Amino acid sequence: MVRTILKYGEPILEEVAEPVTEFDTPELRNLIADMWETMYAAKGVGLAAPQIGSKKRISVIDVSVGEDESKKIVIINPEVTFREGKQTGEEGCLSIPGFREPVTRAMHVKVRAQNEKGETIELDGEELLARAFEHEIDHLNGVLFINHLSALKRDIIRRKIKKLQRAGEWD
Ligand code: NI
Repeated sequence: MVRTILKYGEPILEEVAEPVTEFDTPELRNLIADMWETMYAAKGVGLAAPQIGSKKRISVIDVSVGEDESKKIVIINPEVTFREGKQTGEEGCLSIPGFREPVTRAMHVKVRAQNEKGETIELDGEELLARAFEHEIDHLNGVLFINHLSALKRDIIRRKIKKLQRAGEWD
């Protein structure tokens, strides 16, 4: 089921999500299926559970945006175990539509996580995938890409969003 993507301003987007402790359950499978459907409907490369209102440490990523089944990644309770190098590129977020800004991220990251069955998995990402890992894991810690911008740029974006909220164009 395609779910509503919560927008910046919803408190859950800035809260720390909770670890998943029960695996291989219908609830978990349904939540992840909803995350995929919602992400593809929005043409995103990643989505974190808090973005659809679930305070769970789960993210889905597909840097091929539905073109290549083998690129689909589900990470549960993920942590970055290694970071190397730097890349700066435009970044956006489905919860902050209409805004894109350059963000510096690691060029190469390694992630340890669990899969839907609770098995430990180790993943390696470079370039766009490294960026997606960092962005989606940030979401699980209540951190949004605008938190990586200068205070000045962040304030400009916040003010523009407040204006959109007042105009009823940000729900
Ligand atoms: Ni995002």
